[in-house]
Amino acid sequence: MRKLVIGCDHAATELKAIVRDHLIERGFEVIDVGTHTTDSCNYPDYAHALCQKIQSGECELGILICGTGIGMSMAANKHKGIRAACCSDTFSARLTRLHNDANVLCFGARVLGAGLALDLADIFVDTAFEGGKHKTRIDMFVDIENGELKG
Ligand code: RB5
Repeated sequence: MRKLVIGCDHAATELKAIVRDHLIERGFEVIDVGTHTTDSCNYPDYAHALCQKIQSGECELGILICGTGIGMSMAANKHKGIRAACCSDTFSARLTRLHNDANVLCFGARVLGAGLALDLADIFVDTAFEGGKHKTRIDMFVDIENGELKG
């Protein structure tokens, strides 16, 4: 069974539950790293908890939801090996898997509704990385992380 991880801040508790339950219904195992309430919290805590699950290899892909999706994607992209994409349209959600091998999808609960959120999540988890020339570019991210990209 494919294992996913999902997280959110207080702005997205309800939407996260909808997305999580949908993915479980589809047959995925989904770890929910919180938050579980609408009490104000700091989204980097949840981005960090989610990224650790991917970095360790426990989970294949993750979904992070905050008010805009932007803070979550910024926090997630501070982690080695994490390629987080903030998407509000289905074309970007598909292409960020095909070309960027994104391993975290972010979106904003204050930006889009549940119908689009579920489409984005489905497309993200159902699309495979194309590899080829795109792999060369993704490998360059590692060089950047290690301060080894030749200019
Ligand atoms: C929380 O108010 C809000 O700043 C957060 O959910 C997110 O939108 C940050 O990028």
